[in-house]
Amino acid sequence: MKVLVSDSLSEEGVRILKQDTEVDVKTGMSPEELIACIKNYDALVVRSQTKVTRGVIEAAENLKIIGRAGVGVDNIDVEAATQHGIIVINAPEGNMISAAEHTIAMMMALSRNIPQANQSLKSGKWDRKQFMGVEVRNKTLGIIGLGRIGAEVARRARGMEMNILVYDPFISEQRADDLGIKLTSVDDILQHSDYITVHTPLTKETRDMIDTEQFKIVKPNVRFINCARGGIINEEALAMAVSSGQVAGAAVDVFVNEPPDDSPLLKQDNIIVTPHLGASTQEAQINVAVDVAEQIINYKNGITVKNAINMPYVQQDVMKILQPYLPLAEKIGKLAAQLIEDKYERIEISYSGKIAEKDTGPVTVAALKGLLEFVMGPSVNYVNAPVIAKERKITVVESRSKTEESYSSMITMSIITDGRTKTIAGTMVGVNPRVVQLDDYNIDVMPSRHMIIATHEDHPNIIGPCCMVLGKRDINISGMQVGSNKPGNTAIMVLNIDSEVDDDILKEIKDVKGILDVKSIYL
Ligand code: NAD
Ligand code: MLT
Repeated sequence: MKVLVSDSLSEEGVRILKQDTEVDVKTGMSPEELIACIKNYDALVVRSQTKVTRGVIEAAENLKIIGRAGVGVDNIDVEAATQHGIIVINAPEGNMISAAEHTIAMMMALSRNIPQANQSLKSGKWDRKQFMGVEVRNKTLGIIGLGRIGAEVARRARGMEMNILVYDPFISEQRADDLGIKLTSVDDILQHSDYITVHTPLTKETRDMIDTEQFKIVKPNVRFINCARGGIINEEALAMAVSSGQVAGAAVDVFVNEPPDDSPLLKQDNIIVTPHLGASTQEAQINVAVDVAEQIINYKNGITVKNAINMPYVQQDVMKILQPYLPLAEKIGKLAAQLIEDKYERIEISYSGKIAEKDTGPVTVAALKGLLEFVMGPSVNYVNAPVIAKERKITVVESRSKTEESYSSMITMSIITDGRTKTIAGTMVGVNPRVVQLDDYNIDVMPSRHMIIATHEDHPNIIGPCCMVLGKRDINISGMQVGSNKPGNTAIMVLNIDSEVDDDILKEIKDVKGILDVKSIYL
């Protein structure tokens, strides 16, 4: 795997990448230079400087994964990446403490006029009156957005004996209770807070969330902090509110345009600013670089990445349980694709036992990927498999039952085509995947690269002649399973073989008396 690191990345991350991949570090490239070289790489690692535009993605013939060492993916065209089957990953946890600490630092600097006092003293003045501050104890902090960073800010603010109000429409009362926090409305926060800090992503809903109208109802002497994304608080409106005295001050780390050049926020003494330093600590930079590098190595080694933002997010502890089932599900899908000739109409994937206690979404995606990849080629992946199924109007239905059937965990895939159903079920035995059901035949087969699956009449002198066909051609049989549905009726024979068989061999097997159907399988 060839990896391009196009923004400066902590050495620890580069070292991890270099242990297992070929790495080029090329920072400061122009968009044209990036477009010219990107086709040579399988993976791209960026921070916030490199703009991964649709143009870059279209030129990236071999790119499979984009890693963002940080949270925000505003600099990556994620939609274009998804359309091209490129996984986008980020590192959302590594810098949250640094960002929360920076927010608290900004709140304290704002309360005690530290930057202004520092500047004044260094310019030769000794002015103690002008920089009279305020305590934060017993003041109300309004937090908009109680995700990773908002929650860390809340914890720290409680330690400083502040009262906390929170607005976040996507978190439950339970989570707020766990944090000892009161959920309320934006208006309540605006009317009752002495400090207001925003910790949401920048979205259509959050852009200009605090604008002229909102400033009209704030408590006198409120102070605002934005260490999230430029534009959540409208820059012009904030500058006006501060200059009119409606707002006592503001601390801003992030800007609509970065660098902010002529932002009105730079022109106010009571607005303190930092150049997007929230994550700029040695610890955060190491954390995010190591996180992204490890995910890229995991991806290379076929281990599902934990923070792929354009495929379902799975918590690490859940992923530990689901991980072995992903290759199993993919194999079931691939096997199904080779046993069915008609157009798929509906795919039902059911989970039973322990696995059903988890969110099995990624396992369903793996099964779909296996099924569709066999038909449509390697452009199908974990990212676009559900999109392709939807585009093809294939209904995918997932169901879960915690009741254990024959195995402690089982995946059953049924594909309905033109009124007929093909069913395949699998489980894990230790670390080994097993196919345990093919239609109504119970079997116990370890899926291997090459297999032959034949249905036949259930009576003697059929299996031997089939094996002789293979023996004659020097094809080794490494495993064999026979399953029958009802003695004397029909049976299924599954052979694991060491090499591929050609059509002549298949025909010869098919000609064995009693054989009903035969298929060569490649997984
Ligand atoms: P997160 O995804 O963990 O949390 C965001 C929270 O915002 C979620 O709880 C979500 O429910 C909430 N939210 C979404 N829309 C909302 C709305 N309309 N109103 C209220 N709440 C809403 O994100 P995080 O990791 O905590 O990051 C928060 C912000 O900080 C992001 O914008 C991120 O890019 C930024 N950030 C900045 C720096 C920096 O260097 N300054 C560093 C890290 C993160
Ligand atoms: C992030 O998105 O991770 C932060 O804004 C910090 C950064 O851009 O590096």
